[in-house]
Amino acid sequence: MNARLHNELDLNAYWMPFTANRAFKSEPRMIESASGMVCRTDDGREVLDAISGLWCCNAGHCHPHIATAIAAQAATLDYTTAFQVGHPTVFRLAERIARMAPDDLDAVFFTNSGSESVDTALKIALAYHQARGESSRTRLVGRERGYHGVGFGGMSVGGIGNNRKSFGPLLPGVLHLPTTYDHEHQAFSRGQPEWGAHLADELERIVAVNHPSTIAAVIVEPFAGSAGVLVPPVGYLERLREITARYGILLIFDEVITAFGRLGASFAATRFDVVPDMITCAKGITSGTVPMGAVIARESIRATIIDNAPDAIEFFHGYTYSGHPLASAAAMATLDVYEDEQLFERSRKLGPVFEDALHALADKPHVRDIRNMGLAGAVELEPRPDEPGARASTAFADAYERGLLIRTTADVIALAPPLIATPEHIATITGTLGEVLDGVK
Ligand SMILES: Cc1ncc(COP(=O)(O)O)c(C=O)c1O
Repeated sequence: MNARLHNELDLNAYWMPFTANRAFKSEPRMIESASGMVCRTDDGREVLDAISGLWCCNAGHCHPHIATAIAAQAATLDYTTAFQVGHPTVFRLAERIARMAPDDLDAVFFTNSGSESVDTALKIALAYHQARGESSRTRLVGRERGYHGVGFGGMSVGGIGNNRKSFGPLLPGVLHLPTTYDHEHQAFSRGQPEWGAHLADELERIVAVNHPSTIAAVIVEPFAGSAGVLVPPVGYLERLREITARYGILLIFDEVITAFGRLGASFAATRFDVVPDMITCAKGITSGTVPMGAVIARESIRATIIDNAPDAIEFFHGYTYSGHPLASAAAMATLDVYEDEQLFERSRKLGPVFEDALHALADKPHVRDIRNMGLAGAVELEPRPDEPGARASTAFADAYERGLLIRTTADVIALAPPLIATPEHIATITGTLGEVLDGVK
């Protein structure tokens, strides 16, 4: 066994994101390398990745085709400004993504993360209505339990108290739909729950109270991952689409987790056959290799903003690293892998195997609910009355020691293996998780 590298490191300076820093630094977990489905720790142990890093490494780790493309790009063109200058790879990539996206979602704006994609989409929505001469449309509608990243826009439309509590009043004029999750009516659903389409009707009430002429956009995760794996009820997204269209409100699907194969299709919009006006994505676009995100908007939205612009620059927004050459090359190679290895198809076929294996854990101690769709699923534990989140945290630590990487949010254990997983990997993941659950107190 290798010596534990972290014993030699000074762990103090690095302020870790979304991490219990004090706990981590007293008992660090360090990954040194990875390939395919497996990560390797600094003392030489193998850990099976059941969460695709963080819902992003859909093609598995260190895929040679992607690694080679990034290295070649780094040696050819490391960077060029994205403002007033372009490079060929980013144009090819935009064209390719537009072809994959449904309907006339053909205008691709690049960012560097999911949070930036969300804030960009919200700004596009506001600019669009202003360009149409409806600048009174400034209200944004999010949803209870929604996660849209950590920018001020995303936090404001998001609906998770812990993520908002320290940061003041956030954006004004934001309203929230109720969560789509209801334990009483939906527990242990396989795929989309039957109950809950009517929850979209709350939008009618919001529109009635505020008047349609004040509302710019509704943003939801068509399938929520980070906030606890919440699958949309049958008919819910269709109803949201119908109401937003009726009142001229833009519908944004935040597909940071679902885009690029998680539900067995290129986008959740494709899988559910509901077309929003904008899609935000990130993560799987480069299989997590180089940071990148994007907003894919209807051509008519872009045309409205561009055609009505009073200034030469039509939309005053962008990032130094928008469409970065390395990210663009990584994304092109990632899309090659998705196509060549037919990974979306594979994820769709593996979905039922994953579903059966996951639901077989229903009788384990403290299991309150199991839900799933595509290659994403969750086991929710009954919280300890005095210590919410503690059961799942213990499960996370025990799983890691047993060689399994999972993700927990409160008492929800989320699984989202890379799309290269085999039925044997699924059996190992759920088998190990079963052993972990047997030991949870
Ligand atoms: C739906 C959704 N939106 C936005 C984000 C934020 O993405 P990032 O962490 O890349 O900023 C996430 C991250 O998990 C997400 O799941």
